[in-house]
Amino acid sequence: MTLFYGNDYCVDAGTNQCPCHLAETGECPSCSILRGEEVCRCGWAGECVYQRYLLRPLSPGRDNRLQLVRVSGYENINERAYLLRLTISDELSHELRRPGSYVFIKPVSAPEFFFTPISVMEVENGAIWLAVEMVGPKTRVLRYPGREVLVKGPYRNGLMGLRAAESLTYGQALLLAKGIAQAPALHLGQYLLRRGNDVTALLWPGTVGAVFIANRLRELGAAVRLLEKSPDHGAREMAAEIAAGSYDLVASFGPDRQHQTVADILSRLDRRAAYVTTNNAVLTCGEGICGSCLVPAASGRKVRTCKHQLDARELWGAGERLGLSEIGLQLRD
Ligand SMILES: Cc1cc2nc3c(=O)[nH]c(=O)nc-3n(C[C@H](O)[C@H](O)[C@H](O)COP(=O)(O)OP(=O)(O)OC[C@H]3O[C@@H](n4cnc5c(N)ncnc54)[C@H](O)[C@@H]3O)c2cc1C
Ligand code: FES
Repeated sequence: MTLFYGNDYCVDAGTNQCPCHLAETGECPSCSILRGEEVCRCGWAGECVYQRYLLRPLSPGRDNRLQLVRVSGYENINERAYLLRLTISDELSHELRRPGSYVFIKPVSAPEFFFTPISVMEVENGAIWLAVEMVGPKTRVLRYPGREVLVKGPYRNGLMGLRAAESLTYGQALLLAKGIAQAPALHLGQYLLRRGNDVTALLWPGTVGAVFIANRLRELGAAVRLLEKSPDHGAREMAAEIAAGSYDLVASFGPDRQHQTVADILSRLDRRAAYVTTNNAVLTCGEGICGSCLVPAASGRKVRTCKHQLDARELWGAGERLGLSEIGLQLRD
């Protein structure tokens, strides 16, 4: 069970990974008492993180997320990207059904610093599919990883705006996905379709150079449009689709620039659709400790994006985080 703190909460609060190291260092994103304040301000009336912390010596140890797992499938997407199927425990596959789930993965013989965050694309009972684009050493060594790999998981904060995604039923959702970010888009699309939502997906090949989730999304019941690369990175097509539809949720899967563009489009068209984006921060430890994932939200405050779940609008504002003039999109003028 995940605790409810509005749209601003720790994604691991109340899970087997709670309390985490941040409770011990006085930086728990959820519990004001653990942060040294006098008053409880967590805003949630269920299981108390502070109590979990106090009962730690009596509870089973915090889950170790590390597992040795079998590589049970491999498919080439093209010369730049591939799919991996991993056989994992039923318990882990159950946890990874949540949208936004990802794992850290590395070949068994590679050193610790080869662990790479990779989104879950699809979950079967006791197995997951991942899609990997080779961009550097960590993703290249995974191409022929051997019979087994080391996996750390579950990690949950691969998407921002999870609360909105998890609460939408019988609504209209739009997925805008480019390149390798099609993987988490399929995962969210499947989740939304299971909840009776209508899902429309606009897919671009991106740097991978291939659209690899279209058939699967169609099989599941989504309406899919395939789009070509364009000088404005698809901004006009995104704007036209958002303007024409009446979406309850818009989800952007791609680079930060795309998230910023979509935030701007939503703001300029005055659409109040819930906004969901991939979390593109550099994630090294995934435990709130290393600091590699700290990013400024639109308000200026810095958040540890491996732990901190935010409404994507708070992260992207109305498009002000990256300097929108660069995008050159003109909706009104
Ligand atoms: C939540 C999350 C989910 C992701 N899901 C996928 C996925 O499903 N498939 C996929 O192919 N890639 C995914 N990535 C990106 C993938 O983690 C990086 O491409 C990979 O770590 C690059 O490592 P490298 O050694 O191959 O390349 P490098 O040469 O080290 O880096 C190439 C680029 O990747 C970025 N990068 C490097 N290390 C990390 C890191 N630890 N975390 C985030 N970005 C990093 C760098 O900033 C750089 O821009 C995901 C990233 C995050 C944060
Ligand atoms: S990834 Fe290390 S603090 Fe977030």
